[in-house]
Amino acid sequence: MPLLGQTAPDFVADSTQGPIHFHKWIEGSWCLFFSHPKNFTPVCTTEIAQTAKLSRLFEKRGVKLIGLSVDTVESHKRWIKDIETVQNVTVTFPLIADPTLEVAELYQMVHEDELATTTVRGVFIIDPAKKIRLALYYPAVVGRNLNEILRVVDALQLSDRYSVATPANWSHGEDCFIADTLQDQKEIEKLFPKGFRGERPYLRYVSDPSISRE
Ligand code: BEZ
Repeated sequence: MPLLGQTAPDFVADSTQGPIHFHKWIEGSWCLFFSHPKNFTPVCTTEIAQTAKLSRLFEKRGVKLIGLSVDTVESHKRWIKDIETVQNVTVTFPLIADPTLEVAELYQMVHEDELATTTVRGVFIIDPAKKIRLALYYPAVVGRNLNEILRVVDALQLSDRYSVATPANWSHGEDCFIADTLQDQKEIEKLFPKGFRGERPYLRYVSDPSISRE
């Protein structure tokens, strides 16, 4: 199973947009790679539709979207057409066909005690260096919150850019912390010349730097 910080496993697979060589396809972008259990099922339909509805927001953050299930390319294409009709949205991102579970195994998307022969709802955020930055598994009966995935992308990109960490329930624009891994005083003064606030030495609050500095 790929762990946080490790390189996302590479693969070649068929998709609704032709064969995909994953590492080449990522091509220096962020990526949201997700699996769903089965086409033409209710929860999965709403998830693909919601992802499509938010695709401009992912694009704005430089995140490419790609889904996967055990269904065939033909099934994916029929389902996408149906989603476009019943959910009134255009699906512009590719869906990978993984009937042999070859790719699913690389990402440990098959949890046999949850679903015997198909993938669970896997979520992987991969950065431009192809490192896994978030790995989540959701059960079959619970649809994912795509706004939460966007929130994590925002938090990761903010952290990478400004050496900050984000508190529980943080969202864009709210205060964050100087990353706990940053302890060098000179470096802190250089990166945070206005200093920080906090009632404890380990609670080093700063304003969201993407707002206070831009
Ligand atoms: C659903 O999308 O509703 C679903 C798919 C597979 C198993 C259970 C639920």
